[in-house]
Amino acid sequence: MELKKNVEAALNRQITHELEAWHVYLSISAYFETQSLLGMAKWMRKQADEEMKHAMKIFGYINERGGAVRLEALPAPPSSFSSPLSAFEAALAHEQKNTENIEKLADLAEAEGDKATVSFLKWFIDEQVEEEDSARRNVDLAKMCEGSKAALMQLDYMMGKRESSD
Ligand SMILES: [Fe+2]
Ligand SMILES: [Fe+2]
Repeated sequence: MELKKNVEAALNRQITHELEAWHVYLSISAYFETQSLLGMAKWMRKQADEEMKHAMKIFGYINERGGAVRLEALPAPPSSFSSPLSAFEAALAHEQKNTENIEKLADLAEAEGDKATVSFLKWFIDEQVEEEDSARRNVDLAKMCEGSKAALMQLDYMMGKRESSD
């Protein structure tokens, strides 16, 4: 089945959303660097790497279906945050929005009877459960640190242990 133009356009838009997430997480990582929270900065760099992988997964899929990848401009990400907590809250809000984007894309593929795209997107729907869970946990942990620099340093140390970008 040929990839329909509207599904192709929506997949391209989702590449943009994944790259927007890449951009936002890099910006949050840069903010943590300015605060000398290097563990949190590293965690967010890994998260940014993960978003790039998501974008490239869709990039590969469009090509495999004989479609054309068209990259779009990215908006400037937020560059300053009032606290580590507000940076983690921004990341959570971004993930929640992205879950909506993916679900809408899956609805479109379903409506168009594009079973291959529905099947391809299942991985992303499952992945968003993990993404929202880790983003929510970061917000919870940052809240626990409020008012305690020692706790914040402990969290920074812990987050610096992240090795994977999956
Ligand atoms: Fe993603
Ligand atoms: Fe993930």
